[in-house]
Parts: sequence; C-alpha cells; structure tokens
Amino acid sequence: MFPFATFFIFATGIFRLLRVLLAFVRLFLQMTVLPGKGLAKYGAKRGTWAVVTGATDGMGREFALQLAAKGFNILVVSRTASKLTTVQEEIEQKNSGIQTRSVVINYETATDADYESLRTAAAELDVRVLVNNVGRSHDMPVSFATTPLDELSAIVNINVLGTLRTTRAVLPAMLARKERGLILTLSSFASTPTPLLATYSGSKAYLVAWNAALAAELASARIDARLINTFYVVSAMSKIRRASLLVPTPKTFVRAALRLRGSTGTRSAFTPYWAHAFVAFAMEHLELKGLWTRIALKQNTAIRARALKKQAREQKSQ
Ligand SMILES: NC(=O)c1ccc[n+]([C@@H]2O[C@H](COP(=O)([O-])OP(=O)(O)OC[C@H]3O[C@@H](n4cnc5c(N)ncnc54)[C@H](OP(=O)(O)O)[C@@H]3O)[C@@H](O)[C@H]2O)c1
Repeated sequence: MFPFATFFIFATGIFRLLRVLLAFVRLFLQMTVLPGKGLAKYGAKRGTWAVVTGATDGMGREFALQLAAKGFNILVVSRTASKLTTVQEEIEQKNSGIQTRSVVINYETATDADYESLRTAAAELDVRVLVNNVGRSHDMPVSFATTPLDELSAIVNINVLGTLRTTRAVLPAMLARKERGLILTLSSFASTPTPLLATYSGSKAYLVAWNAALAAELASARIDARLINTFYVVSAMSKIRRASLLVPTPKTFVRAALRLRGSTGTRSAFTPYWAHAFVAFAMEHLELKGLWTRIALKQNTAIRARALKKQAREQKSQ
C-alpha cells in the first residue's frame, strides 16, 4: 500500500510539472514564432466597422488607428467632441478610403438617451468589432473606507455600466447580421485583488466574469468575446510617461493585442504583451496571486504617500 501511495503522489507531481512545462512552451511559441490570428475573418477591408470607446487617448486611440490601418471604418466614442474630431481627422488622413463617425458620451453621467444615440449610430453600420476600452482608475491609491463617493461612482459607471451598456447597445445588431464578430474588453492585472485600488480592482474583476459568461453565450453565434489583461502601459491614466520592458507604449501594446494571442487563463481571456504574459503565467502557475496582493498593498501605500506629498507641495505653491 505504501509504495502505491508514494507512486501516486510522485506521478501526480510529475503530471502537474509536465502540464506547467507544456503551458510554458506553448506560451513561449505564441509570443515568439506563432503568427497571430489576424482580423480578416472579422471582415476587415470589406467596408465593415469597428466601434472603439475611450478612443481619444492612450490605448483606445491606438485601437482606433490600428484597426483603421487594418481596413475597418471606425466609430469613435468618447466624452470630448473636439478630441474625437482630431482622432477622426488623423484616421482619415492616414488611411485613404476609411470612413469615421463619432458619438459623444460621458460614461460617468451617461443617460438612456446617450446609449440610445450610440445604438442608432451603430445600427446603421455593419459593425463587426467592438473594443470596450474606456476606463478610469482612482486619482491616487486610497483605502476603500475613505474613497470619495464621486470617484467610486465614476469608476463603476465608466468601467462596469459603460462597458455593459455599450455592448448591450451594439451587440443586438451584430447578432442580427449573423456575421463573425469580435468584442474586446480591457481588463487589468488589478482584477487580481489589489488593495488601495479596491473599487477599480473590483470593477475589472467584474468584467472577467461578465466576459466569460458572454463568450459562452456568443460562441454559437460566432462572435468572439475576449478579455484583454494588461499590466501598466504608458498613458495618462497610468501616469507613466516612459516605456520600459514591463511598460510598453500604447502602440506596442495594441499591436500585440490585435494579434489576438497571449498567455494563459481561459480561452476567453488573454494577456497579449509578452512581458506581461510571462508575469501572468508566473502568477497563474506558481500561485503568486497572494504575493501580488501583499506587494500591491506595500507599493500602493508608498505611491499614496508620494502623491499626498506632491499634492501638499502644489497647494503650498499656489
Ligand atoms: N494604462 C494602464 O497602465 C492600464 C493598465 C491596466 C488596464 N488599463 C485599462 O485600459 C483601458 C485604457 O486605459 P488608458 O490608460 O489607455 O486610458 P487613457 O490614456 O487615460 O485614455 C482614456 C480614454 O477614455 C476616455 N474617457 C475617460 N473618461 C471618460 C468618460 N467619463 N467618458 C467617456 N470617455 C472617457 C478618455 O477621453 P478624454 O480624452 O476626453 O479624457 C480617453 O479617450 C482602461 O479600461 C484601463 O482601465 C490601463
């Protein structure tokens, strides 16, 4: 009996190790030699449209530019009309024959009428791709108990309700067309419990479960709902201005995301940028999520202290 038990434990250990090794090799190949899936099957270059939210800056602007370069007409959605016009002009100048439209929505305060205007604008177009990119985080790390109520509501309204209602406005017409489609939703490493960003963390975790459920519902309709997981990217939101190995520019990140390849997790979620993918792999397979939460607590406590000092200096100099 004893040797059998020993053999069983040993075999289970070897099996687990082999699975992790295989997953690592798969990830390595995906990040290096395997080609991306491409967007042709979603109707690129056939007069079809992509809708991108939060399209005037950061990753959203890049999604709009790169999807246009791949042959989609673009409907851009954001809160600032003048910035939307600038992005539209840039897209049309860089891509002859590509059309653009825009819808102004402030997701923090969006009404039924706003979502209805998005629905009617999108229903007129042959939309095949939706990028749920819009999002906001806390102004600075903050304990949940002292999170300003307007900040709390804004994060939930933009990240959760904005994503759900945008998809609810665009999806029925996509389904009615019975064509292949793609819905990309931006989540975050912060969907792993991240102290002092609790509201943001929870909002991104909500999207993980929502997207997985949506992906299962839409599989038979040939609409792929895929959640994009990312660590820091250079942007106004991250307040990081310089790119590094772990922090790509929006251009680099979106190029990776539109290959529709990336590490681990479930079929409906992926981590497209290679350095993030290896971190996600380690978190998943070496069970480092608890460590992430402990490190985030320390790091965000330090970031808050620095942000408060900076705020005090600025108030003094006014
Ligand atoms: N950057 C990162 O490190 C990082 C990490 C993990 C996840 N993410 C996620 O990636 C997505 C994009 O982030 P980003 O860093 O690229 O953002 P960003 O550079 O700050 O750009 C945000 C975009 O959303 C728009 N927007 C903001 N608030 C809005 C509102 N209330 N109504 C309508 N539009 C609004 C902005 O419009 P205006 O130009 O008018 O402000 C802008 O176009 C977000 O979902 C974010 O949570 C980012």
